[in-house]
Amino acid sequence: MAKTKRIGILTAGGDSPGLNAAIRGVGKSALGFYGMEILGFRDGFRGIVEDNRLKLDKAKLAGILTVGGTILGTSRDKPHRMLIDGRTRDMTAVIVENCEKLGLDALVCLGGGGTQKSALHLSKAGLNVITLPKTIDNDVALTDSTFGFATALDIATETIDRLHSTAHSHHRIVVAEIMGHRAGWLTLGSGIAGGADVILIPEIPYDVEKIAEAIKRRSRRGTNFSIVAVAEGAMSNDDARAFAAAEAKRERARTLHDKKEAKVELATLESRHTGNTMRLARQLEELTHLESRVTILGYVQRGGTPSPVDRLLATRLGGACADLINEGVFGVMVAARGDGTEPVPLEKVAGKRKIVPPNHPWVETARHVGTCLGD
Ligand code: F6P
Repeated sequence: MAKTKRIGILTAGGDSPGLNAAIRGVGKSALGFYGMEILGFRDGFRGIVEDNRLKLDKAKLAGILTVGGTILGTSRDKPHRMLIDGRTRDMTAVIVENCEKLGLDALVCLGGGGTQKSALHLSKAGLNVITLPKTIDNDVALTDSTFGFATALDIATETIDRLHSTAHSHHRIVVAEIMGHRAGWLTLGSGIAGGADVILIPEIPYDVEKIAEAIKRRSRRGTNFSIVAVAEGAMSNDDARAFAAAEAKRERARTLHDKKEAKVELATLESRHTGNTMRLARQLEELTHLESRVTILGYVQRGGTPSPVDRLLATRLGGACADLINEGVFGVMVAARGDGTEPVPLEKVAGKRKIVPPNHPWVETARHVGTCLGD
């Protein structure tokens, strides 16, 4: 008789709606359909190191489809750089050893870009790893979409809708900061769906004078309020140039001293960028003479019940993941492809980011309906 397959599952990186739906999707298919055994590790890769786990039986997998967050807990710990007793240590060997001790046939990692990199690292270290793409940023490479994005898109859009009435009533500019340090999918999508007048994303550096001019044009036409949807990582032309120069310096750096110097420069720029949305609102107030207010959506975008789109995506990716484990396909991410799924080698995904191309149809759409993109 064939041995019962035993699989481990963990959630890593920032939480996002749909994680529990994915755990349930993998779990129910693995357990109920294939008769496998499934163990959940708590708080990401740290759970394997600390052997902090629970058995995911039918009872544990029931009633979680609609629940936000992750029943397993999560962390941003990386296998090869984990803070243990105040020291950063490479815990790869411990993770491999613990998985072997538990007799795991497969390790399922649910996460975003960082998790795909960690998963590739563990796959190279000899584990049978398989991943699912999760993040509200929708920036994982080589998948049509990631779960978490659709729910966050609903939340951000609803917020923009609500901001319209207050901006309109007070004749104000309302600047809404939406999550996304490197990718603008969430800001662009919710900005278009919510009818923002200005949309600023990391991929398109902006000129504040051009934004002010667009707002003043609206005022001259008798519309003296505006909604500006700005991504966390959106930046002015000057800042974008400074970041690009610092990044190029880091890439060119050969000596330890030069590498350290470039790193410090980047960190200084990053910390200066915090508060960028407040700065932008002040600049727009000065240039347009319209009162400005800021709304930072923050972690509201990651919380609460996943939307039906995310539940469906997470469940079908989870089911496909169990199929692949059953077939013995590892070292892959289960990507969403149209109505189906596709295993993509982790080597092709790790270290890549899906950002908004400048000529993406959403960008063209925004321009067509007269939205200012700041350029
Ligand atoms: O990657 C998802 C994300 O929500 C980003 O949009 C955001 O910039 C970041 O995580 C926040 O991370 P943390 O939870 O570590 O504060």
